[in-house]
Amino acid sequence: MSVALKAPARAQEFHFDASDHEAIGAFVYAEAGILMPAGKMQLVYGRLAPRVRACGLTRFADYIALIERDPAERTRAIDALTTNHTSFFRESHHFDHFLENAWPALDQRLAARGKVRIWSAACSSGEEPYSLLMAMFGKDRGNGQRLSRTDLRILATDLSTDILAAAKAGRYSPETVSGIPQSLRATWVQRTAEGAEVHPLVRDRVAFRKLNLLEDWPMRGTFDAIFCRNVMIYFDDPTKERLQARLADCLAPGGFLYIGHSERLSASVAPRFTCVGRTTFQKVSA
Ligand SMILES: C[S@@+](CC[C@H](N)C(=O)[O-])C[C@H]1O[C@@H](n2cnc3c(N)ncnc32)[C@H](O)[C@@H]1O
Repeated sequence: MSVALKAPARAQEFHFDASDHEAIGAFVYAEAGILMPAGKMQLVYGRLAPRVRACGLTRFADYIALIERDPAERTRAIDALTTNHTSFFRESHHFDHFLENAWPALDQRLAARGKVRIWSAACSSGEEPYSLLMAMFGKDRGNGQRLSRTDLRILATDLSTDILAAAKAGRYSPETVSGIPQSLRATWVQRTAEGAEVHPLVRDRVAFRKLNLLEDWPMRGTFDAIFCRNVMIYFDDPTKERLQARLADCLAPGGFLYIGHSERLSASVAPRFTCVGRTTFQKVSA
């Protein structure tokens, strides 16, 4: 069934019609795999209007022409169009599962001078990898100090340049850090004049990198756990399937994959995993 595109109801500062929306939709799909169907017209307008204004333009058509020829503005457009909603300990059952089922063996491996690698894929502003580290470190500062001398690393990647800069800084509002359990917050979050900052021992374990999940991945070696949550919801089925197969490829046998609450494994990928909890999967050994 085809759905007629309606212009947003509110008076608009810039001319924006259905063909502009289609052009933006094609652009963000090609760049990031993100679907922007007709129903997202208002959202696209709201997110890109500040960019149209900042570029001194009056029509979306001119902005579309600009992003076609200007790579820096393309990056800004993608930054503006991505949804970065996240929070500390979001879907906390994943952190509970990890602590109970993955962490004991990984902790032992670290104690025996082995290495542990975890990937937070589409990490947004950093709350996800920082939550995981705080969970592993626990409320004892000494335990965090011990672990900071081991070969424990979290790779945290996202497509959005702006959001990665915020993630690296590790500075959050008091409201944002209120989502961290009090005992962990007391140890791993420091008050600052502007708000709160994640402790350097936690920040130092994370390598934040820009990475488009649709493109080639430079990583070598496998991960012991992958958190890839609340990004696949923006992709179509073939993109999800391809991504999930690649995630399975770079997960160690027995490693855990955590996906978002409304996400599912594709039929072709599901046999490579055992479902071990809510949106929690363990890669079957070869
Ligand atoms: C809603 S946030 C999810 C953050 C976190 N994983 C969570 O569950 O709270 C989705 C993130 O996916 C990123 N993203 C969207 N498309 C991407 C792509 N093609 N490659 C990498 N990251 C992408 C966005 O920039 C955004 O930060």
